This record gives sequence, C-alpha cells and structure tokens, in this order.
Amino acid sequence: MAEKRTLLITAGPTREALDPVRFITNRSSGKMGYALAAAAVEKGFSVILVSGPVDSSVIPPEGLAEFVPVICAAEMAEVVKTRFPAMDAAILCAAVADYRPKVVAQNKIKKKEGELILELERTEDILFSLGQMKTGQQKLIGFAAETENLAENALCKLKKKNLDWIAANQVGLPGQGFQSDRNEITLYGVNGEVIPLPLTEKKLLAKQMLDAIFQ
Ligand code: PMT
Repeated sequence: MAEKRTLLITAGPTREALDPVRFITNRSSGKMGYALAAAAVEKGFSVILVSGPVDSSVIPPEGLAEFVPVICAAEMAEVVKTRFPAMDAAILCAAVADYRPKVVAQNKIKKKEGELILELERTEDILFSLGQMKTGQQKLIGFAAETENLAENALCKLKKKNLDWIAANQVGLPGQGFQSDRNEITLYGVNGEVIPLPLTEKKLLAKQMLDAIFQ
C-alpha cells in the first residue's frame, strides 16, 4: 500500500503575553484551519494540526496523526519549523500575531495616572521561514487575510514568501472570514492559476481547496 502523504496545518490565533493575566490576540476562531484538517484526513493525508488557543466548541477532527496546541507565535514557529522537513506539504491558516510586547511584565501591570504606551516587536514570519526551508518536492500554501487590495496583496505574499499557492480571503465583512462558519476564497497559484471558490460553508470550502491544490 502507498504511504500516506503528510500535511501540516496551522489554525487559530496566537496569544502574546503582556503580563501574567493579559495578552494581545485576534479574532481567529480556528474554524477554517480545523475544517482544512478534517477535509485533509478525509482525503487520506496524514495530518499534523498545530493550533493556537481556540474555543472548546472547535474540536480537533478524529484521525489526526498529531495535534499540537500552542499559545504564542514563538512556540508555533518552533513546532512548525521542527516538523516541516518531514512533511510533503504545509498549509498555514493560523492568524499569527505580527507583533508581541517587547517586554513581558513579571507581575500584573498596575494602572497609574495618564497613558500607558506599549512597545511591540516583530514576531517571526513562520510562513516566510518555511518558504526559505522548502525543498522542490514540498508544497507550501499560505493564506492572505486582507481588508483591501485583496488580489494585489495576496500575489505579493505568494511571491515574497516563496509559496506554491495562496488562499486570499477578504476579512472585515459580515458573514465571512474571521469567526463565521462561511468563507469565500480565491486561490492563486505560482504558475498563474486563479481559482475562485465562492462563499460557502468552511467545511465545504476546505474540501474544494484541497481538491484544487492536490489532485
Ligand atoms: O479562524 P477563523 O475564524 O475560521 O478565520 C479564518 C481566517 C480568516 C483566520 C483564515 O481564513 C485566514 O485568513 N488565515 C490567515 C490569517 C493571517 O494571519 O493572514 P496574513 O495575511 O496576516 O498572513 C499571511 C500568511 O502568513 C498566513 O498564512 C499566516 O498564517 C502567515 N503568518 C503571518 C504572520 C506570521 N508572523 N507568521 C505567519 O506564518
């Protein structure tokens, strides 16, 4: 019997700590990434799902090869970069924080008179790092979440991050994108492919996405 193809998927948000009780995060629910993981298991892949913190109603699908919960961008970067060399492909759907607090206070920050100014520093761009590590046999797929200039920004990320495909989704609209059960995606391929996948349930969209990328 042929060996299963291996696929790593990231999902959910990351949390970047400010102090022991506060953090910076975003609106990702994990639904899109978990739908991709379920569709990939169904399609016969051996799937590793690396997930930021999500609500308990978002449940990892049965049949995963591995489920790795992480909290922050640095943790996600380490897990993903360690596992990627053994993978046939990776789809990075997580909404990773681009910035984290430069200093994490050891104790709860006390309120004082006047403003509090936070200093933030860049996190590692995990997708960019994988683009540098990628071999000719591996497929790398990213997402682009944009509120404006969707196609232009997605194509720029496709090239800059050395991807094979990018799934461009418009965010900030009601009823799709972050948190919703539905989404709409345009897939752009490195060879000039443009595949629109109209608004539908994330579960169906995930299947359509995998069918388009992996024949
Ligand atoms: O989780 P849901 O509520 O279901 O919502 C789904 C979604 C909107 C989060 C999903 O469809 C989506 O768009 N995921 C990517 C979100 C994002 O961070 O997009 P971006 O355009 O900022 O990042 C581009 C790519 O780089 C993404 O593949 C991202 O995973 C990756 N990235 C970003 C920053 C970083 N430090 N490291 C990364 O790897």
